[in-house]
Amino acid sequence: MTAKVSNKILIVDDEPDIALILKLHMEDAGYDTAWAQDGKMALEMLAEGGYSLVLLDIRMPRLGGVEVLRCIRESGSDVAVIMMTAHGNEDLAVECMKAGAIDYFPKPFALDDVLPRVQRAIAYRSALIERQRLEREKADFVSMLSHDLKNPITAVIGSIDIMREGRLGPVNIEQVEYLQAAIDSCNEVVDMIDNLLDINRFEAGKMQMNLRCYNPVEIVTAVANRFSKAAEYERISLNVDLSAAVPFVNVDRNAFTRIIANLLGNAVKFTPEGGGITITCQSIASGDISAAKIPAYVNIPEGFSRNRQFLLLSISDTGDGIPAEDLGRIFERFFQSPRSGRERGGAGLGLAYCRMAMEKMDGLIWAESELGNGSTFKLMLPGQDEDVTL
Ligand SMILES: Nc1ncnc2c1ncn2[C@@H]1O[C@H](COP(=O)(O)OP(=O)(O)O)[C@@H](O)[C@H]1O
Ligand SMILES: [Mg+2]
Repeated sequence: MTAKVSNKILIVDDEPDIALILKLHMEDAGYDTAWAQDGKMALEMLAEGGYSLVLLDIRMPRLGGVEVLRCIRESGSDVAVIMMTAHGNEDLAVECMKAGAIDYFPKPFALDDVLPRVQRAIAYRSALIERQRLEREKADFVSMLSHDLKNPITAVIGSIDIMREGRLGPVNIEQVEYLQAAIDSCNEVVDMIDNLLDINRFEAGKMQMNLRCYNPVEIVTAVANRFSKAAEYERISLNVDLSAAVPFVNVDRNAFTRIIANLLGNAVKFTPEGGGITITCQSIASGDISAAKIPAYVNIPEGFSRNRQFLLLSISDTGDGIPAEDLGRIFERFFQSPRSGRERGGAGLGLAYCRMAMEKMDGLIWAESELGNGSTFKLMLPGQDEDVTL
């Protein structure tokens, strides 16, 4: 089939008078037309391509319209099909719609009724082709990101790391610092690409999660340790108090780790020198859910409140805070608060990833903040039955 969008209509009808009336009417409206007198001939003509719409009679010798419709759809052709049905045969018309016809009209027809249907069908088909083209472009872009961009950056990180370790000759402390800064920046780009790739997987319904029962304290502690250097470097105190007894949670270890890393990365990024970040956890019983003060914009999954207990994890910072009107929107992809976002880099994808991953794990995420008074990000997950006490 041709990729080019043409506006040629194939009229398929064994009655020459009807075909002629349709032909003249369509040509008056500016369409090119062709006529096939039966189903077999129609399929032969369609195989040559170039048609955007078929007006298809149902009752015909040699090969009936229903069969022709089936062959068209099986061939993978994107041509639009409108069925022409005998009066009183609406059930069959509905069957044809289910089988891939876009519309139908009864015979004898009113010409005034036919043209709008034809225009609608052609417009719908053009929109569909455009959407498919955009989807292909998006898929190409995403695969370009993962291969053509991520692989070389990973190679750059590897080379700089070898230098930083002094394996290519001695490096002084200042050089190590600069090389480390280069590695950190490259890693930021890799994280951004990973967020984008995963968001795309979530949206395509292709994200696989490997949910297992974990002690959240162990995972959060591991991520916090990773950030202690970065916080120290920015002269930000990182206080981790995970002593409260909390339940095990059912999460994908990799996703949960990346969620915490995104939140800590933001906290470090948006907190000025001398500030602090605090991580705490608590257990919430199902009767006390209202104490968690879940904001209205948070999508609560069905059956969420039937869990016996929950883990509530809080990551607070003493940064600039987030305006109240942006609190819901920061979880949308590409959204960055005009006050804080752009000038600190990033792409506005981290929190969108966090929200999608939390949803997939039946958990909630939200932010509480007051401008000038820091922000607190909260994660709430259904608890499993065993308790953890450290
Ligand atoms: N801890 C925080 N303090 C202040 N603003 C924040 C904080 N975390 C996130 N934000 C706001 O939310 C926006 C979206 O965050 P995110 O999705 O992680 O994207 P990015 O970090 O790439 O900007 C940020 O640009 C910022 O405006
Ligand atoms: Mg971020």
